[in-house]
Amino acid sequence: MASQIGLIGLGTMGAALSLNIADKGFTISVTNRSPGRVDDLMAEAGDLASRITPTYDLAAFVESLAKPRAIILMLPAGDVIDRQMADLRPLLDADDLIIDAGNANFHDTNRRAAAAVAAGERFLGIGVSGGEEGARHGPSIMGGGDQVAWARVAPILGAISAKYQGQDCATWMGAGGAGHFVKAVHNGIEYADMQMIAEVYGILRDGMGQGAAEIGAAFGEWNKGTLQSYLIEISGEVGLATDPEGGAPMLDIILDKAGQKGTGRWTVIEAQHLGAPIPVIEAAVTARNVSAMLDQRKTGENVFGAAPEKLTAVNFDDLEGAMIAGKIMCYAQGFDLLTEASGSFEWDLPMPDIAEVWREGCIIRSAMLNDMATALGENASLNLMFSPFFADLLRQHSPALRKVVAAAMSHGLPVPALAAALSYYDMMRTARGTANMIQGQRDFFGAHGFERTDKDGRDYHGPWARADG
Ligand code: 6PG
Repeated sequence: MASQIGLIGLGTMGAALSLNIADKGFTISVTNRSPGRVDDLMAEAGDLASRITPTYDLAAFVESLAKPRAIILMLPAGDVIDRQMADLRPLLDADDLIIDAGNANFHDTNRRAAAAVAAGERFLGIGVSGGEEGARHGPSIMGGGDQVAWARVAPILGAISAKYQGQDCATWMGAGGAGHFVKAVHNGIEYADMQMIAEVYGILRDGMGQGAAEIGAAFGEWNKGTLQSYLIEISGEVGLATDPEGGAPMLDIILDKAGQKGTGRWTVIEAQHLGAPIPVIEAAVTARNVSAMLDQRKTGENVFGAAPEKLTAVNFDDLEGAMIAGKIMCYAQGFDLLTEASGSFEWDLPMPDIAEVWREGCIIRSAMLNDMATALGENASLNLMFSPFFADLLRQHSPALRKVVAAAMSHGLPVPALAAALSYYDMMRTARGTANMIQGQRDFFGAHGFERTDKDGRDYHGPWARADG
């Protein structure tokens, strides 16, 4: 019997997603460039194998699918997707649907979606979050592209998605690359959440002399409160784990050099294009880049010495409060960026739904996201930090953020993301900022003109000697 859906690309995520689809009762055909992976999946599938049709070439794969066909690509982002689509199209009928479920750059998805529309073909670009475990048992799915096509596969994507109190974590975000854009912002936030956790880890380790197990236990405690989230939880587990080879804390053995596949960077680049400030996310991406400069950091430590003193001025509650305040600011920036993109790209992104779809399955899932969904449901255009619920939390915890950042900085411990959060907080509560000086300078050297506080109009100039006169 023909399969209801097909999947190409049986890497870790593709294999897990295939098993998830079969597990939810759907029939699926699979294929992969190297056939060994197909056999591996069938061996791993156990009882689910009866719902999975293994195929070893593209023609047989396409033939095995029920019409109109729906084909998921779980392949590395980039040219691979274009090549795979080019190989597939001649074998497909007009109404057949290709779904790119990888971490594509949303510009590529926009381009592919526009080409599909021009050619009368069906195409979706969907962001899938949750790592291997999520893909296998319920990811968060951010759909984008052809809405008619989305409606056709929504029953399958909804069924395989994570559930938050029975609600599917799978939503169509908008046309073209909207789904992949939302996924990129998710990843930018992921970077920032992870970086702030790493900074607090650094304070505990280098400032307060705590061991990995104590630190793991602290994160375990924090996971019981306002910070309850997947990333805090796994940070606790990472801290507690020991190296099977020698029994030392695993965290102490891991090299402090973080990898990245580029989605966080895309978020920052796009934020700059849109003029949307996301300094916490920018700091996190920069920190990853700095982490990769291990040799230079070694040189720096030789030249200047590492952070000199122990830090005693903060306690566990301060650190928890700093992370709460930092997290709010980081999400406020992420949602601000989404709002800006929604207008610029005419997507009409469903803000509360984005928060809802992130409540389960994805890497940034957390208790706070439910409150964010509520706040955005009440007023989607209000910066999250000003919504009554989060404004209260910020009033409560911003002093801890200030205390932690000030203490860390005065002791030479780097906290770039937390510091960016604090500066954002201070900028955003300063009605009369300092850009009047920038405007004065711009007018001085370039006659760019400025607005006045006491009169209407935009093209005033100062009394200084002008370059052109
Ligand atoms: C997810 C993750 C995932 C991402 C990895 C690695 O939502 O499941 O965001 O899609 O690829 O976390 O990302 P980096 O290599 O950029 O850290």
